[in-house]
Amino acid sequence: MSAPRGQFSSNIGFLMAAAGSAVGLGNIWGFPTKAASNGGAAFVVAYLFLAFALAYPALMAELTIGRYARRNMVQALRAISIGPVSRFFGGLTGFGGILVASLILSFYAIVAGWMVAHLAEPFAALFGAQEAVQWLTENSTQRNLIFTAIFSGLTMLIIASGVEKGIERWSTLLMPSLIILLLLLIAYVLTQPGAFTGLEVYLMPDFSHFTPKLLISAMGQAFFSLSLGVGTMLIYGSYLSQQESLPRLGALVTLIDVGIAFTAGLLILPAMYVAQEAGTQIFAADGALIAGPNLILQVLPALFDTMGEAGVFVAIAFFALMVIASLTSSISMLEVPVAFSIENLGIPRRIATPAVGLVIFAISSTIIYNFDSLFGLAVSISTEYGQPLLGIALCIFAGWIWRRDQLLSELKKGHEDIEHTLFWKIWPWYVRIVCPLLILVAFAQSIL
Ligand code: PFF
Repeated sequence: MSAPRGQFSSNIGFLMAAAGSAVGLGNIWGFPTKAASNGGAAFVVAYLFLAFALAYPALMAELTIGRYARRNMVQALRAISIGPVSRFFGGLTGFGGILVASLILSFYAIVAGWMVAHLAEPFAALFGAQEAVQWLTENSTQRNLIFTAIFSGLTMLIIASGVEKGIERWSTLLMPSLIILLLLLIAYVLTQPGAFTGLEVYLMPDFSHFTPKLLISAMGQAFFSLSLGVGTMLIYGSYLSQQESLPRLGALVTLIDVGIAFTAGLLILPAMYVAQEAGTQIFAADGALIAGPNLILQVLPALFDTMGEAGVFVAIAFFALMVIASLTSSISMLEVPVAFSIENLGIPRRIATPAVGLVIFAISSTIIYNFDSLFGLAVSISTEYGQPLLGIALCIFAGWIWRRDQLLSELKKGHEDIEHTLFWKIWPWYVRIVCPLLILVAFAQSIL
């Protein structure tokens, strides 16, 4: 027996939620950092191509299966299976998605916790609390535990209120603020000396940088950025009404995700060169990026400091933006195991949410206590191995296992003239052959 399902009250609500899931630390921090360390504009071109040629078709597989089955990933993949063997693998893939989504959330909440701490720091500085400032910016176990707990608690609060009151209302509120904040920060950074060097690196492709490594990196980024493989988009599709055109909504989500990543690059790359100009060592003499995964936390506070009084407010705006983007992604991750607990185990949402949330927080804490050995491992297992493997499985389910007539008729719902579109002629074959092959290549590369 399953609980009655929530539904988005409008396609705007769905768009905000799905785009909110896609847009996160991956876009605003990951994409610009990868672009900066992989040849700038050449990486941007590869990413843009792969986002539309690989990630969008894979996203369509998840949305179509989700809306047809109207269930979580475990039940959905079982529902479109035809025999006991594919049903078994459907269940297995679904469980894999739940595990990987939970694992991603467990490290994501730590990084998002850093953002919350850096959001608190300017307030401490305003009140002249020097000790607090230092504690907030130092990477200590205690600080990480507290701020991961705060971020996880916020995520649980939103998810506990359910689809319409929680996810939709919050995402509709948070997404536009995110875009406005980004544009304001870009306007500011472009007035600073050095910004245009960053802009040039970001926008003028030098195709001598075009290597297989760059392609693989761009492919992984596109995959992670659109929240693919773990059933997040499948769940959101399952809350979507049959009056909406899936290809159109999927394309919009992709455009918003890619658009925000691209816009974030317009902020971060110039900001790196502005900071370099102002005396912070960001690039080595040979042009290589010095800072690692904590680039933003090493570089941006230094940049904000060069802005005088205004720097405090810019810092607040920026880290608020990071927390907002992280929150609209983390709620989509938590919804994956929570929807499973509600629908398969019959646990009410108000109990399932804190129960699942606490288990994930326990994993986060384990990672925090063993940061050096576990953090990179969690990132690698979930995003480099988990997501591509699950992505292949989802494309195989959509392309090979699911009955063709059911797949096609689901696509037609809400999109009457679809048979005249290019999408209709290409996608059903594309998802069968090209998508699994492309992902397989990426997966093979990540093993090598
Ligand atoms: N797409 C998110 C980002 O770019 O930050 C990360 C993410 C969200 C991955 C949700 C997976 C997921 F299920």
